Amino acid sequence: MKKIIIITGGSGGLGLAIAEQLVRSGRDVLILGRKSEKLDRAARKLNSIAENAEISTLICNIGNETDVRRVGKYLTEHKIVTEYLFNNAGRGLFSKAGTSTAAMIDDVFEANLKGMILLTSEILRITPEKEELTIVNIMSTSALHGRNEETIYCAAKWGARGYTEALRTELKGTKRNIVAVYPGGMKTDFWKVPGQNRDISGFMDPLEVAEKIVNAVLVKDKLLVTDITINRKK
Ligand SMILES: NC(=O)c1ccc[n+]([C@@H]2O[C@H](COP(=O)([O-])OP(=O)(O)OC[C@H]3O[C@@H](n4cnc5c(N)ncnc54)[C@H](OP(=O)(O)O)[C@@H]3O)[C@@H](O)[C@H]2O)c1
Repeated sequence: MKKIIIITGGSGGLGLAIAEQLVRSGRDVLILGRKSEKLDRAARKLNSIAENAEISTLICNIGNETDVRRVGKYLTEHKIVTEYLFNNAGRGLFSKAGTSTAAMIDDVFEANLKGMILLTSEILRITPEKEELTIVNIMSTSALHGRNEETIYCAAKWGARGYTEALRTELKGTKRNIVAVYPGGMKTDFWKVPGQNRDISGFMDPLEVAEKIVNAVLVKDKLLVTDITINRKK
């Protein structure tokens, strides 16, 4: 069986930065995203820096069950075992609490919560129990604190945190490891959404954040880093 590392939202921002860190150390990655041009661009970038690593891409809206099942089928048919799953894909939305609509809630919950649950479930279903699997859930410091004009986003990320904690409890004593990651603000396209005008010039470089996460998570010894909070120095 071939081993692989899956990164959702690996076509940009923090996900692509995590993929960069991984391929530099020769790890094979499968990146998932909704847009083929973005995935192709990311794959070209990763191929240009990878020496021994294999880079695969799949179009997948993680909030869509059919797409998620297709990923599972691809892995099974190609006899690929997932060694690490980075549940990174997410989307921000900034709006006053009195303006929330069903469409806004669905949009934000799709990647940040529903997609995390759907893909994790599929990977758990197809990964043999004897194989070690580490699931890394990228949330946000907005899963630790409530924030102005982030009611829907905070609700989704707090939901993801609840899911992560329950998953950890349920899978205790198995070969599944759960890592919770809570990053603060990073300079990515995340902030390019309508109505958002925050100055992000002082925010963290996603490559530096990715380096910290990958170094902490990929250590192969008897220790497991379970919770990671990363903030910029004030
Ligand atoms: N940037 C920050 O300040 C910040 C702070 C704390 C936490 N975070 C969290 O960090 C994670 C990464 O964010 P980022 O800053 O890297 O954002 P980003 O630059 O906007 O990248 C988000 C990635 O997720 C993918 N994506 C979005 N919805 C998806 C879906 N339904 N299915 C599959 N892929 C999807 C996007 O690709 P496609 O558009 O091609 O699908 C893109 O590659 C998110 O979970 C975010 O909530 C970000």
